[in-house]
Amino acid sequence: MYELRSVTKRYPRGKDTVHALDGVDLTIADGDRLVIQGPTGGGKSTLLQMLGGLDRPTEGEVVLDGTDLAKLSETRLTKVRSENIGFVFQSFNLIPTLTAQENVETALVPLGVKTKERRERAADALKSVGLGERLGHLPSEMSGGQQQRVAIARALVKEPKVLLADEPTGNLDESMRDEIMDVLERMWKELGLTFVMVTHDSAIASKAPRLATIRKGRISVKENAGA
Ligand SMILES: Nc1ncnc2c1ncn2[C@@H]1O[C@H](COP(=O)(O)OP(=O)(O)O)[C@@H](O)[C@H]1O
Ligand SMILES: [Mg+2]
Repeated sequence: MYELRSVTKRYPRGKDTVHALDGVDLTIADGDRLVIQGPTGGGKSTLLQMLGGLDRPTEGEVVLDGTDLAKLSETRLTKVRSENIGFVFQSFNLIPTLTAQENVETALVPLGVKTKERRERAADALKSVGLGERLGHLPSEMSGGQQQRVAIARALVKEPKVLLADEPTGNLDESMRDEIMDVLERMWKELGLTFVMVTHDSAIASKAPRLATIRKGRISVKENAGA
C-alpha cells in the first residue's frame, strides 16, 4: 500500500534550514495499524501530511498503491485525497455554521454525490459513531468528544482506504479519550482501513502492534508481537 523511500522535507527558517523529515523509509501494508510517537517538533505531523498528500516532500517518493504522490499534479492529488484518504485532526476542524450532518456531507461534495444520497450517507456515518440523535446539532451544541466523532464520521463517510489521525485525543479529557479510541479502533476493524495515528498517549502506544518513533526527522519502527 504505502512505500516511502528516502523522504526528506526541509523548511527554510531564517538563514537556517529545518529538516522536518530526514531520509524516512517506511512500508505500511493494507489494513495495517501504525502508531507514531515522538517529541514535539520531531516531524510527526509532517509525515502525516506526506502520507495524506497534503504536502510534498523536498526529496524522495511517497508511493500509494503504485502512484508516487510527490509527482502528481495538484488536480490528481486532490482527487486521490478526496477519494482515498480520511483525516482526523486534534482540533476537530468542523465548520461552526454547519450542522453535524452538513459537516459530514462536505466530504462527499468533491466526489459528486447527489444531495439525497449525501444526506443518507452522512446520517448513516453519524449513526455508526453513535450520533444518530445529533444530526441537526451545531458543533457549539456538542461536547468535544461528540465533535470529534462528527469529524471521524466526516473522514469515513467516503469509505476511504486510509485513515490518518493527528493526535485525535489531544484536546479531550480522559473519559472522552477512551470513547474516541474505542470508535477509531472499531472503525479500523469493521472497515478494513489502513490506519496511521499520531499520539502522545503511552497507554495507546504500548498496545500498538507497530510503533514508529520519529525524532529529528528520523524514524525507527518497532513490531510489538504481544499487542
Ligand atoms: N510549514 C512549516 N514551515 C516551517 N517549518 C515547519 C513547518 N511545518 C513544520 N515545521 C517544522 O518542522 C519540524 C517538524 O514539525 P512537525 O512535523 O509539526 O512536528 P511534530 O508534529 O512532531 O510536533 C519542526 O521543527 C517545525 O517547526
Ligand atoms: Mg504535530
